[in-house]
Amino acid sequence: MSLLHFGTRRFTGGIMAVAIGVGLLQAAVVLAAPPQSTPLAPAPNVISTPLPGVDITVPGAASTIHGDPTAGGTKFATICASCHGNRGTTGIGNPGSNDGTVPTLNPIDPGFLEDSNGDAAIFARELDVFLQHGSRPAGPSPLISMPGFGDQKLLPQSDIADIEAYVMQLNGTFWPDRCPGIMLELANPGPGSRVEPGGYRVQGRATDVRAQQGSGIDRVDFFLDDRDSGGRFIGTTNPRLMPGPSGPTSFQALVSLPKQIGVHDLFAYAHSAVTSQESVISIPIALGIDPGKVFTTPPASLSATCTP
Ligand code: HEC
Repeated sequence: MSLLHFGTRRFTGGIMAVAIGVGLLQAAVVLAAPPQSTPLAPAPNVISTPLPGVDITVPGAASTIHGDPTAGGTKFATICASCHGNRGTTGIGNPGSNDGTVPTLNPIDPGFLEDSNGDAAIFARELDVFLQHGSRPAGPSPLISMPGFGDQKLLPQSDIADIEAYVMQLNGTFWPDRCPGIMLELANPGPGSRVEPGGYRVQGRATDVRAQQGSGIDRVDFFLDDRDSGGRFIGTTNPRLMPGPSGPTSFQALVSLPKQIGVHDLFAYAHSAVTSQESVISIPIALGIDPGKVFTTPPASLSATCTP
């Protein structure tokens, strides 16, 4: 489950190869290109105004910095989530644009993934043109444009690099030296299941693939909703002291679910004793309510992992 992103991508490639091989769908198989940034238009608000003389097709310094995705997550929550949603999952409405909403970044436009194909250097350059120069969405009179964070010096290049590393992590791509190498799965609860407020036993598996012995994980913290957006701490465990029922790479923890009835995300953060890096997984849960009434499609878990 935690290999979701890589697995899905390989599959797509495989299916396409088969489609080409059997001579079907040839006309339909067109590899999507990543979106290109479009010059901003003069606007009353300076952050949405183009900087004269800047080549908006050229990435900036941030694209060569191997940013820290964990630090980037916190910055994303305060700077980007207002338009692109919590963890980049929901774009706000954008009247006057052809899309009608600000694009989601998680999942991101498949053009970025197909073009970069797991190569962080390519992915970072493609993201960076948007973060440096901003972009005006297509459409008659888009209310909201993407601000040019670099050109307008709204953020230092190191912050831009951290945020780009985070957006890449949300989409399963890592700088090789920033790869946490942690496999993290939750077995219980399952995505979309009903859980009641009060004590609950969470179970799963976590391993740092670099560990010489044992799981290499010394702590798993649990939050109800995203820690970086005000989520609530509900429990922690040390898998070495409290292994789960499936042996030393498994864990279990008794968490305390508050009476916040409704749809939430259960977040687990696994900390590696080997590298001090962290990996995160989140699953949607129905807290004290009927999942059939709140989930129209079966939810999946959100995770990103990488093998160094
Ligand atoms: C004021 C609202 C706003 C904020 C804040 C904002 N964006 Fe955007 N972003 C947009 C809009 C609107 C677009 C669409 C631009 C277009 O279609 O050309 C966009 C496009 C993008 C794209 C291109 C995605 C695609 O599919 O074309 C990326 C990447 C991106 N933003 C990242 C970020 C990051 C990272 C942050 C935080 C540093 C951020 N944005 C902050 C409004 C915003």
